[in-house]
Amino acid sequence: MCGIVGYIGYREAYPIVIKGLKRLEYRGYDSAGVMLYDGEAIKLSKTKGKVSDLEAKAEKEISTNGTIGIGHTRWATHGVPNDVNSHPHVSNSGDLVIIHNGIIENYAPLKVELIKRGYTFTSDTDSEVLINLIEEVQKKEKLKLGKAVQVALNQVVGAYAIAVFDKKNPNEIVAARLGSPLAIGIGEGEYFIASDASPFIEYTSNAVYLEDGEMANIRLHRPMKVRKIKDDSIVDPYIQELQMNLEQIEKGGYDHFMLKEIYEQPSVIKDTYRGRLHANEGIVQMAGVEDNLEKFLNADRIIIVACGTSWHAGLVAEYVIEEFARIPVEVEYASEFRYRNPIINSKDVVIAISQSGETADTMAAIKLAKEHGAFVFGVCNVVGSSISRESHAGAYTHAGPEIGVASTKAFTTQITVLTMIALRLAQAKGTLSKSDFHMYLQELEFIPEKVKEALETNDKTKEIAAVFKDAPNCLYLGRGYNFPVALEGALKLKEISYIHAEGYPAAEMKHGPIALIDELMPVIVIAPKQGHYDKIVSNIQEIKSRSGKIIAVVTKGDTQVRELADYVIEIPETSDALSPLITTIPLQLLSYHIAVMRGCNVDQPRNLAKSVTVE
Ligand code: F6R
Repeated sequence: MCGIVGYIGYREAYPIVIKGLKRLEYRGYDSAGVMLYDGEAIKLSKTKGKVSDLEAKAEKEISTNGTIGIGHTRWATHGVPNDVNSHPHVSNSGDLVIIHNGIIENYAPLKVELIKRGYTFTSDTDSEVLINLIEEVQKKEKLKLGKAVQVALNQVVGAYAIAVFDKKNPNEIVAARLGSPLAIGIGEGEYFIASDASPFIEYTSNAVYLEDGEMANIRLHRPMKVRKIKDDSIVDPYIQELQMNLEQIEKGGYDHFMLKEIYEQPSVIKDTYRGRLHANEGIVQMAGVEDNLEKFLNADRIIIVACGTSWHAGLVAEYVIEEFARIPVEVEYASEFRYRNPIINSKDVVIAISQSGETADTMAAIKLAKEHGAFVFGVCNVVGSSISRESHAGAYTHAGPEIGVASTKAFTTQITVLTMIALRLAQAKGTLSKSDFHMYLQELEFIPEKVKEALETNDKTKEIAAVFKDAPNCLYLGRGYNFPVALEGALKLKEISYIHAEGYPAAEMKHGPIALIDELMPVIVIAPKQGHYDKIVSNIQEIKSRSGKIIAVVTKGDTQVRELADYVIEIPETSDALSPLITTIPLQLLSYHIAVMRGCNVDQPRNLAKSVTVE
C-alpha cells in the first residue's frame, strides 16, 4: 500500500518522480504529493486524487525544477484521503520532509508526547508523527539526519518504508524499511529510491533491495551506506541486476493493463513451465521442490496460506494435490490462520502463495509457521519480494509485472506452478499411473494454446457484458476444480465493476442461495464436459425452472447445456484437473468488459491497492 519514489542526482527530479509515481499507482491512488529541492527552497505540492491530479496542481503551484525530489502515492490508512493527509509530510521546523509507506502502530502515544513538548500537527497521519519524532530526536540529541532517523525508528512499532530529506544537509536522503518494500537504484552520480524497481528501470539496472530492519544513507557522489537499524552494524549491500524491462510495465497498445495481462496468459504460462516441464521426456521439476523433495514426501499434510485471488489458486491446488499426490491439503486465509492459534508441527509443509510477495497477512502466517518448525515454500511472482525471501524455498511464477490491480495472469501462473508441484509429488510417490502422469504433462504443455483459443471468446463475452452490465447482483457456480474458479469469477466482477457477486459450489444452491433466483438474476455456470457434468446440468435445470438467466461456460460442441442456457461461451476441451486454467479466461474477460461498460476504473478500482502490506 502506498508507493514512494525518490531521486538525488544531476537530472531534473520532477519528471522522474511523477513518472515513477504513475508506475507505482497500482499500490494506492487516493492522493499524491511531491517535494522538490532546488538548492534553496523546499517546494511541496500535494492533493487528493491521482498522480495526474497532482501533476496538474504541482505545475501551477510550484516551480518544478530541482535535482532532489521525493514523491508519494497513497492508499489511506490513518486519516481520510485529502490534501492535508497526503504525503510528503514536513516537520514543525520546516526542515525535514518524509514519505512513508506503512503504519506506525504506536503513533498515538508518541503524538501525545510530542504535543506535550510543543509540537503541532496539521494532518491525522501517523507519518507526520514520525517526522516530528525524528526532528525531536535530532534537536534533543544534536544528531545528523541518519542517526536521528535510526534513534526514532527504534522507538516506533509498525511497518515502514521511508525516505527522509533534511534541508540543513541537502545532499542526502535517508531511507529505511521494515515490513514494506524498498529498492534503491544505483546510477552514475545518481540514486533512485522506490517501492519497486519500475520507476527507475530506464536509468539503471543495478539495484539494492533493502532487507527488513535496514537503513541507507544515500549521499551524492558518495557510496551508499547501509546499516542495521537496531544495532548500527554495517551491511555490505547486495547489488542485484534487474531483469525487468520497460515494455513489461507499459500497456503495449491495450486500453488497460488488465486486458494486456489477460492476453499475456498464453506466453506467461509458457514462461512459468519453461525449463521445468519436458512432457516428452516425462520431466517436471523445479529446483526448490527437488532440493526439498523429502520434506514434501514426508509431510503429514500441506497447509496453503494466501489471500484473495492467491487463496483461490490455493483452493485449486488443494483439489489437484490431493487428487494427484494423495497428500492431505488444508487451505487457509492467511489473515485467519495467523490469529487463530492453529495446530502446526514440524512435519507440516506450508505453501505460501502471493503475487506481490508482500502481503502482510501471508507474511505473518509464514512467520508463525516457521516458529512452529514447519517447512515453508513460497510461490511468488515478484522476484526478491519479502515472502520469497522469508520462505525456506520456493518457486517463482514468472508472470512478469502484474500492474492491473485485479489479478489475472498471477492466478493462472500460480495454478501452473502448483499443478507442477502436484505432478512431481505424484511421480515421486507413484500415486498417478504412468499414462495419466504423461497425459497431464502433455496437457499442461498444450495449455498456452488452449488459453489462446479461450481468448477468442472475447467478442462473445463483450456481447454478454452488454446485456448484464446493469445487473445489481450475479451468481457464479462451479463444481469440483471449477468451484474455486466460480469464487474467482465473482471476486473479479465485484472488485472491478462493483456489482455484488457470489461464488458457490453449484450443489450448495439448494441449501439457501436458490432463494435469490428470479428472472433478474444472472447466473454464470461453469460447466465443462469433463468433471461433474451431469450433476451441473441438473443444477442448471434447477435455475432454469426458477427463471434465472443462465450464462454457461461450456466445452466446444456442447449441446445439452446449450439447450438450457440463455448464453453459452465455448472453450476448448481439457482434462478436468487442468480446466481452471481455461474456464477462468472468459470470466476474466466478462468482468473486464462489464467494468469498462459501467465506466469503472478497471486498473485501479476504488478502495483497493495491489500490494496489501497492512493487515
Ligand atoms: C484480487 C487480488 C487480491 C490479491 C490479494 C493477495 O484480484 O488481486 O485479492 O490476490 O490481495 O495478494 P498477493 O497475491 O499479492 O498476496
